[in-house]
Amino acid sequence: MEVVETIEALNSALDRLPKPFGVVLTMGALHAGHIALVEQAIEVKASGGSVISTIFVNPTQFGPQEDLSAYPRALEGDLARFKAAGVDLVFTPPPNVMYPAGFQTTVEVGEVSQGLEGSRRPGHFKGVATVVTKLLNLTRADTTYFGQKDAQQVAVIKRMVRDLNMRTNIAVIPTVRESDGLAMSSRNRYLSDYQRRAAGVISRALKAAGEMYEQGERLPKALRLTVQRVLIAEPLVEMDYVSAADARTLQELHEASDAPILLSLAVRVGQTRLLDNCLLPLSLNNRADLTTTLGAG
Ligand code: PAF
Repeated sequence: MEVVETIEALNSALDRLPKPFGVVLTMGALHAGHIALVEQAIEVKASGGSVISTIFVNPTQFGPQEDLSAYPRALEGDLARFKAAGVDLVFTPPPNVMYPAGFQTTVEVGEVSQGLEGSRRPGHFKGVATVVTKLLNLTRADTTYFGQKDAQQVAVIKRMVRDLNMRTNIAVIPTVRESDGLAMSSRNRYLSDYQRRAAGVISRALKAAGEMYEQGERLPKALRLTVQRVLIAEPLVEMDYVSAADARTLQELHEASDAPILLSLAVRVGQTRLLDNCLLPLSLNNRADLTTTLGAG
């Protein structure tokens, strides 16, 4: 596995590697969720291709009050995990390679980036859309693999790729969970033992609403309330939002409908902000349906 830091070294490595390129973009601090993305990307090898990963903690997607400096960095361990998983090339640019002096272009996606996380984290998706555009261009990505856990990020990137006629295919990979259901996240490592145990309530809350949906409940408000009721029972978990939105457009739903639903939430456990979601019907939480449904509108 080759590791490169500069655009020149990246280009010369890409010129030597066989195509198509399957690309996994990360901010490092890898966990099993990232490795699941690499395991899916390995499919490009069946058509003679190569797997490229990037590690870049993108400063422009962090707000002034957010955890950029504290964001976990674990480069050596990350590289070992990528190597063991079968990655061919890793791009680890320093910030001045991604944002050299004079940089002044940004990518901003409209409506789909404005609710949910977008309304709580102003500028976040502008930072994400800009860096993802650059990284997809730089890595010449044929297919990129994103995790379901950051569902709005998926919808924003899909919209951007369609609107800007970018050539990358996007595959959406189901959330990987700990044994108690907690979605894997680099931020889970901030949790104390007590907080970690309490965080198990997040997936139980989604599951309770998912079961109601499967039993016939279609009122978005009832689904949101079920999630809220389960969350409220755990005093260490502070609710930020619970949303039942059309999974294709991310518009909040108010009436019963047959639209596929993205049931999503953000909570705080101590200082740590955690996200989770599921699609309803629950049968949609697989790669093929996530890829065609999430952000498709
Ligand atoms: O999901 C992430 O880790 C980041 O938002 C991404 C896509 C690597 C862009 O910095």
